[in-house]
Amino acid sequence: MYYPDEVIEEVRARNDIVDVISGYVKLQRKGGRYFGLCPFHSEKTGSFSVSQDKQMYYCFGCGAGGNVFSFVMEYENFTFPEAVKMLADRAGMALPEQEYSAEARRQKDLKDRVRELNRMAAGYYHRMLRTPQGERGLAYLKGRGLSDETIRHFGLGFASQYSNSLYQYLRGKGVSEELLKESGLMQVSEKQGMYDKFWNRVMFPILDVNNKVIGFGGRVMGDGKPKYLNSPETVVFDKSRNLYGLNFARTSKKRYMLVCEGYMDVISMHQAGFTNSVASLGTALTSQHAMLLKRYTDEVILTYDSDDAGVRAALRAIPMFREVGIATRVLHMEPYKDPDEFIKALGTEAFQERIDQAENSFLFEVSVLQRSYDMKDPDGKTRFFQAAAAKIAEFELEIERENYIEAVAEKYHTSFEGLRRMVANVLMQGVPTRKAPVRQRQARPEKEDGIRQSQRLLLTWITEYPGLFDTIARYIPPEDFSDELYRGVASMVYEQRRNGAVNPAQIISHFTEPEQQRAVAQLFNTEVRVENPRELEKAVRETIYKVADYAIAAKSRALDPTDMKGLQELVDAKRRLPEIRRLHISL
Ligand code: GTP
Ligand code: MN
Repeated sequence: MYYPDEVIEEVRARNDIVDVISGYVKLQRKGGRYFGLCPFHSEKTGSFSVSQDKQMYYCFGCGAGGNVFSFVMEYENFTFPEAVKMLADRAGMALPEQEYSAEARRQKDLKDRVRELNRMAAGYYHRMLRTPQGERGLAYLKGRGLSDETIRHFGLGFASQYSNSLYQYLRGKGVSEELLKESGLMQVSEKQGMYDKFWNRVMFPILDVNNKVIGFGGRVMGDGKPKYLNSPETVVFDKSRNLYGLNFARTSKKRYMLVCEGYMDVISMHQAGFTNSVASLGTALTSQHAMLLKRYTDEVILTYDSDDAGVRAALRAIPMFREVGIATRVLHMEPYKDPDEFIKALGTEAFQERIDQAENSFLFEVSVLQRSYDMKDPDGKTRFFQAAAAKIAEFELEIERENYIEAVAEKYHTSFEGLRRMVANVLMQGVPTRKAPVRQRQARPEKEDGIRQSQRLLLTWITEYPGLFDTIARYIPPEDFSDELYRGVASMVYEQRRNGAVNPAQIISHFTEPEQQRAVAQLFNTEVRVENPRELEKAVRETIYKVADYAIAAKSRALDPTDMKGLQELVDAKRRLPEIRRLHISL
């Protein structure tokens, strides 16, 4: 979805950043800024600052920063268009309608109507729990240890023993048979006509990340078969693109996600405070699920069942996560079968301990491999080490290989050198390599060389002390900033300043990736430690000098020796450098 710049700017201007962030973080005014505890890393003293003038936030602890869109994107895990939509709604603004083709519009209407129908059904099932008919359902859920609050939070419900009660209810609300057919909530037979798909089951509504009901799972209250019945795929329900619990898990501030197998596991974990857990929807995990999770996290802890099926599922999932750059660890549930049983038996703290002890996925793979060798037989043992060496050889970096050689040698009691030679032999024969896990999100700002820090200071000062602009611009044109991002931002800052005041928050809106927004926010929030205004004035002078000097050196390195005009310009610029040292700077 593409919105014109003016629209984006209006949405931004109508959502004051202090107002919006106050809805999430407790802020206190200190001087010209507001401070609070950073929601993006854990800390005890508030280094998270919000500036009303700049309409920006910036955390001096972890480097998170941006405008009101960035905040909503990072906090809610929204994409840029989702953030625009949410803030437009918040300000009561109507966004321009997208142009749809007739067919696309029909599809969109159909989707909206099916979602609405699902919402009505979920409400109906949920209310049913509190009726005499629904007593058995409520008793079942309570018997499984769920609190009233949990039942409400997940919108759990009950489908009565009559096979047409939802049908009657929805028809009574004027819903057509045609639409009912699209919803996946009904079945049709020659004899009976249309009737409910779910009856005599407790119901688990399935929500997408926008909290819209897209389908249901229904469980028998006892040992009947099938244990679970799930909605079929419909226009709104795509099992490989949704995960149960993700609507809640995406706003949990944990750096990893817990991935399990079942609805009940997710619910138990959330009830116990592990609100970062999700499950696939009665299907195996797919690479689309892995990509979906990558939007929210770089690390997954698999909490699959401890049986053979669970181990097989884990072995299939690990490479899918690796492929998208998610590091995986495996939680050992023994002697319990699944998270629900574990938490019920041993409680929250014991589960947290198991999370902390979760095994590195590679060592998990090796331990599964080991089960197929007879370790008591010398030959079996050798073959196991050979197989392990072949797996270790797949790592791209020597340091990774060394680390795993060490870990495997220690765990299975063999010599480091012996295993290292085996790995070297495999490498001589040539093996495909596996990529090192990518770590994209960085908690700390990158270490910067001094020149970039100086360039950021200039941009921050231009914004904070408009009077400095002419002086800075005289010696440093936007092209003198070192990388593309800095140059782009500098030319926007210069242009805005020539036409009036600098509007940093609007500049940030030009960038739609959170990483870029964070980098741009840093450009406007760079500080030096000085004792008094005199020192600051001196710092300004020094910084202009440093940046100008660096730019001249860079240009002269890049200069074509036959370019006489360029050479002359450089000589002039160099001659003017000492002037900078004598500049009178006044804030
Ligand atoms: P409880 O037995 O109630 O604790 O549920 P569970 O979530 O532990 O179930 P289990 O581990 O047996 O299954 C994991 C998931 O697989 C379930 O949450 C369902 O999504 C799915 N599933 C289980 N049994 C069936 C079935 O009979 N049919 C279908 N379609 N899916 C099932
Ligand atoms: Mn279970």
